[in-house]
Amino acid sequence: MISRNDPCFCGSGKKYKKCHYPEKPPETPAQLAKEYEKKYDIILKTKEQIDGIRKACKFSAMTLKTLCEAAKEGVTTKELDNLAREICRKGGARAASLNYGSPPFQGAICTSINEVICHGIPEDRKLVSGDIMNIDCACILDGYFGDCSAMVMIGDVSDENRHLVEVTHEAMMRGIKILKPGVKIYEIGEAIESYATSEGYSVVNAFVSHGVGLEFHEEPQVPHHYNNVKTPLAPGMTFTVEPMINVGVREAVIDKNDRWTARTADNKPSAQWEHTVLITQDGYEILTKP
Ligand code: MF3
Ligand code: CO
Repeated sequence: MISRNDPCFCGSGKKYKKCHYPEKPPETPAQLAKEYEKKYDIILKTKEQIDGIRKACKFSAMTLKTLCEAAKEGVTTKELDNLAREICRKGGARAASLNYGSPPFQGAICTSINEVICHGIPEDRKLVSGDIMNIDCACILDGYFGDCSAMVMIGDVSDENRHLVEVTHEAMMRGIKILKPGVKIYEIGEAIESYATSEGYSVVNAFVSHGVGLEFHEEPQVPHHYNNVKTPLAPGMTFTVEPMINVGVREAVIDKNDRWTARTADNKPSAQWEHTVLITQDGYEILTKP
């Protein structure tokens, strides 16, 4: 608190009581951030944290790019998983997904093929022509987290599935392009669902985007479907935008045995893309660019 005999906040050099008193000094960005964090339980990252998160995101994106290039007919998802582990090891990073959650996730990446919505576990199945697959790669570098995913199309993919992949990418980008301070969280889901449904697709509502950076999954949760969350975005927020879009029904069914693999209830194809983004003073920055 400024007291009456302190120099005035306006920088005049006069005493506060002789100058702007009783007008209250404007709140500093640090004070505003503190209030925001208290009100919404969302951490606004410092410059130093953002630098660290940016590096982790770049590492995740570069790893993802290498994995996508290696995903070809005849390659198994387990081989891609081993490649991810190797890249992390050499880069002094760790895979965030490995042993995550309960039961501990048995993969360094998620490989979600065709009707699998997300959280597919790498296995010995070889990729075949016509497969569409999401590779989800989240890495921890120097204690900071990056999270991204992309679709790959193996060999000859049907026009229908190619369209799904393209529309899902566009849906993610529409969710990203509106981002700036003051935009409400529900506007992201609105941008995504209005577009996806205009293409005749459904939007998965069982999984959401999330804050990321200091932890793998932080507040806020960011739905991709129509919702009511009026939390305003603020500079320093880092979170994912990762819509899952289905050809058929939106409902997901979790595999009873492995308790991770999420499939569409009607076994029709699903696609997903994911970036980690930073809210800046006047817009956004995509952090997971290779
Ligand atoms: N990377 C996924 C996400 O976007 C999370 C995967 S959960 C895991 O949030 F267990 F597979 F790691
Ligand atoms: Co994510």
